[in-house]
Amino acid sequence: MKPQILVVSPMPPRVIEALKDDYDLHDYYRAEDRPALLATVGSQVRGYLSQGAVGGADAALMDATPNLEIIANWAVGYDTIDDQAARERGVILTNTPDVLTECCADLGMALMLAVARRVAEGDRYVRAGRWPQKGRFELGVKVSGRRLGIIGLGRIGKAAAWRAEAFGMPVAYHGRHAQTGVTYDYHDSAVSLAENCDFLMLTCPGGPETHHLVNADVLEALGPEGFLINISRGSVVDEPSLIAALSEGRIAGAALDVYEDEPRVPDALIAMENVVLQPHHGSGTTDTRRAMDDLVVENIRRHFAGEPVKTPVYPLP
Ligand code: GLV
Repeated sequence: MKPQILVVSPMPPRVIEALKDDYDLHDYYRAEDRPALLATVGSQVRGYLSQGAVGGADAALMDATPNLEIIANWAVGYDTIDDQAARERGVILTNTPDVLTECCADLGMALMLAVARRVAEGDRYVRAGRWPQKGRFELGVKVSGRRLGIIGLGRIGKAAAWRAEAFGMPVAYHGRHAQTGVTYDYHDSAVSLAENCDFLMLTCPGGPETHHLVNADVLEALGPEGFLINISRGSVVDEPSLIAALSEGRIAGAALDVYEDEPRVPDALIAMENVVLQPHHGSGTTDTRRAMDDLVVENIRRHFAGEPVKTPVYPLP
């Protein structure tokens, strides 16, 4: 019998195409009667395919699939997966690190430049024919040389920091602990980092540890000339506090790729000119998405060939 795999959340067609002949793929996320599907195949399921931003692999699902061996996550972030439950059950969890680092950092820089230099707003100005009527466009804020604060100096944070250095930007960071071998200034709180930067960029993982790490106090510390750039997870920011800070001019602007309740974006953010919005697209280039697809497929194939997976999230004994 071919290995049975549950497709827990939407997957790119390339992944499905690459696996469909050698594995029985069960479309769980689209199934009209999920309990019936689990009653039929649950005990035979050996793998899940899961998409980071959507997820769905929780402990209850794992209990209904007691022979689960591997969860292959199509994303670097796995906050929508109960990784603790997976670990306790001896289930391998893989993600797609490294291959998306450069593109996510590129988008972080693009968003920082866009919000400070009013790129999206300027585009709207030209398209709406306002230039000939109103003349010169409003001034933006110089980016080069200003201070960048990064929350979460992991792979993506470091890639953004390296890019910022080329812009002559002093970089500082906050994370769980100071890192050795890093020359950037460390701040032991998000408030302290926010007080000491002009652009606060979020590149940390989501999940309970970082939930609402950027709250009203952090935004207050960022101040009326500070900008927030979020390319991590919507859960890291207290969105109502962000909306309040923006609408009261307590921060200068925000550039967001991620939101608390995707794909719903609050109308208040949509209405603001000093906010740049993206549809959770950090890894969204053809090159990177292909590499992510290939990595998910490789992890599944390696596992079912009895080989070590390429990108495990944690070691298993
Ligand atoms: C995207 O958000 C990812 O976690 O890869």
